[in-house]
Amino acid sequence: MIDNFQKNLWGKRASLGGRGVLDPADKKGFKNRYIDLTHKMILEKEMKLSTSDKVLDFGCGTGRLTFWIANFKISEVIGLDVTPEMIDRAQEKYSSKKNLKFLSYNGSKIQFPDNYFDKILSVWVLQHIVEESKFRETIRELGRVLKENGQIFFIEQVMQRNSLEKYPQTDYIYKLRRSSENYIKTFQENGFRLVKWYPINARRGIFYKFIVIGFPSFLSFFIPLLIRIDLSLTRWMKVSKDKYTDSFFTFKEV
Ligand SMILES: C[S@@+](CC[C@H](N)C(=O)[O-])C[C@H]1O[C@@H](n2cnc3c(N)ncnc32)[C@H](O)[C@@H]1O
Repeated sequence: MIDNFQKNLWGKRASLGGRGVLDPADKKGFKNRYIDLTHKMILEKEMKLSTSDKVLDFGCGTGRLTFWIANFKISEVIGLDVTPEMIDRAQEKYSSKKNLKFLSYNGSKIQFPDNYFDKILSVWVLQHIVEESKFRETIRELGRVLKENGQIFFIEQVMQRNSLEKYPQTDYIYKLRRSSENYIKTFQENGFRLVKWYPINARRGIFYKFIVIGFPSFLSFFIPLLIRIDLSLTRWMKVSKDKYTDSFFTFKEV
C-alpha cells in the first residue's frame, strides 16, 4: 500500500497523461520527448528483447514504456502499478495489443508465481519507495517473480549521497534520491549481482538545451541522433554533487 498523499498525487498525475509521469511542468512537451526518447534508447540497447521474453514493467504509470515494449513482439509484457488511476489510463490508451496487460498492484505481493518473468524494467519508481524496509521488501518481491539469471533494468535519479526530497510547498517527503552505492549494496544484499550501472548525464550535453527550448519540427528527425551524441559525450562525467543524475542499472538474480 502507499499512503494517502502518494495516492492523491499519482491519482492526479494520471489525469495529465504522459506528462504526469515525466515532468508535469513541461507543457510544450519538448523536454519530456527528450527524456522519453533517452529512456527508450537506453532500454532498447541494454534489454536486448527477444520474442520469447516475458517482461514486467514495474510501476508502469500510464503505460508509455509497457506499450513501447509490446511493439517488440515479445511473448508477454505486464504493466503493474500501485495507483488504480494510472492503470485505468493505461488501459484506456493502450488496450489493443494481445501481448500486453495492465494490472493493479497492492503494494506488497506481485500476483505472479515465482520465477515467472525473464526481465523486469522499472523507471522512476524505486525512488518513491522511501521507507527502507519497504524498499528491501520490494526488491525481494521482484526477485521472487524473476527467473533465476533473469535481469532487472532500472533508471533512477541518483545523488552522490542519499537525499530526501519534499514535494514542492509541502513537508511531505515523496522521493529519496539514493546514491549509486546504496542501490548496488541493497540489491546485492537481496539476492542480485550487479551487471552494470552508468550515469545518464545527457542533460549536461550540448544539444539538450536546444531540444528542450523547442526544435523546428522539420528537424525533429535528427533528435535521436543528437541525444545519442549527448549520451556518448556525457556518459563518463561524474555524478554531480548537488544535482541529481539519472542513472541506469542492471542486476542479475543469483
Ligand atoms: C514517475 S512515475 C513513472 C511511471 C513509468 N515508470 C514511466 O516511466 O513512465 C512513478 C510511478 O510509480 C508508481 N508507484 C509509486 N510507488 C509505487 C510502488 N510502491 N509500487 C509500484 N508502483 C509505484 C506511481 O503510481 C507512478 O505511476
